[in-house]
Amino acid sequence: MIKRLIRLAKQLLAVTWIRRVYEGTTRGLLEVGAANRVTATLFSIPGLLTFNREQFAVLRGRRDYYRNLQRARQTHVELRRNVHRLEKGMSMRPRRPVFAKDYIDETIEFYQSAVRLAATTSGSGIDNDELAWAHGVLSHYFEIVDNADPVVAKAAKRFAAAPHIVANGDSGGAVHPFARRDGAVSEVGYDGLLQLAMQRRSVRWFQDKPVPRDLIDKALLVGRQSPTACNRLPYEYLVFDDPEMVKQVASIPSGSGGYYHQIPTVVVVKGNLDSYFSPRDRHVIYIDAALSAMGFMYALETLGLASSVINWPDFEPLEMTMAGKLGLGPAERVIMLIAIGYPDPDGIIPSSTKKSLDVLRRFNELPQK
Ligand SMILES: Cc1cc2nc3c(=O)[nH]c(=O)nc-3n(C[C@H](O)[C@H](O)[C@H](O)COP(=O)(O)O)c2cc1C
Repeated sequence: MIKRLIRLAKQLLAVTWIRRVYEGTTRGLLEVGAANRVTATLFSIPGLLTFNREQFAVLRGRRDYYRNLQRARQTHVELRRNVHRLEKGMSMRPRRPVFAKDYIDETIEFYQSAVRLAATTSGSGIDNDELAWAHGVLSHYFEIVDNADPVVAKAAKRFAAAPHIVANGDSGGAVHPFARRDGAVSEVGYDGLLQLAMQRRSVRWFQDKPVPRDLIDKALLVGRQSPTACNRLPYEYLVFDDPEMVKQVASIPSGSGGYYHQIPTVVVVKGNLDSYFSPRDRHVIYIDAALSAMGFMYALETLGLASSVINWPDFEPLEMTMAGKLGLGPAERVIMLIAIGYPDPDGIIPSSTKKSLDVLRRFNELPQK
């Protein structure tokens, strides 16, 4: 039904005079609406359906952030953020003898609560790496700060009395800050990386061959290494490789029209707006997930696989269809879909020439108006 309406709208807009009337009206309204912030506010009233959903999603996410604090969960964003802040404090030059006094107590509270709630759920699905990281960083904190400070002393006592779960996760290596010289060293050089970037193209035609799940996981090990604001990783990869599910999910966005029927695996990258207590961070899910997806897609290439991003437009009917299919709440936002498979060697790839560097980049020069 929705797809039929979209198709009808496209057919109507293909009629030149209808397109001209539509574009003329839209342009006129935009000239008024985009004049200043007051007119933009007036303009947004009839657009409530589009922008209100995002506003609701952000609000619901903020509400859920606070509600979640008391809930047993696999991962604890509030703890991740504060542990990150501690690590950042540890890495500062010069490092202050005492730092994090304004949030160390809160961090221990978050840690205690995470451990306690993890115990109540008998540890099933709990991210042990996260708890081990928090434990490692907190332990290190009390080793390096001045314990004579009364705030630190009180927090140290609370930490010592807290129950601990220190499981060995798969993170390996250091669970507190380390010197750059002790970090991992890659053998990938610039030429190899450039070649990989040239090899990766949006591939829409695939062989009729399933994608091994272990390769998805291997690619995700790369994707999750991407930077995220405060190391929150506020996204999830929902992977579908059941042919019927793939068809149902991949056919929802209109950008997969004509080729979704032969996609072997589709990933829905979903952002979680309950990762934030403040509206100022409402765009971070998109940035973090996109950075991760890029690493994921490069890794797929190194494993013989190919991919193509499928756009997820902010469009009410499609949002409702996808939310219904996947059981998503208002604060769970689809960011993009990724089609994955072994590339059909005969599949045609658009050349998609990139912009020249002189257009993309400026050194010490303000953008031209
Ligand atoms: C956010 C985003 C949305 C995209 N949406 C679609 C889409 O809906 N359908 C599609 O076939 N390709 C889609 N693509 C792929 C682009 O068309 C492609 O990346 C672009 O033309 C450059 O080609 P390249 O990836 O081969 O370099 C999308 C890419 C991005 C990053």
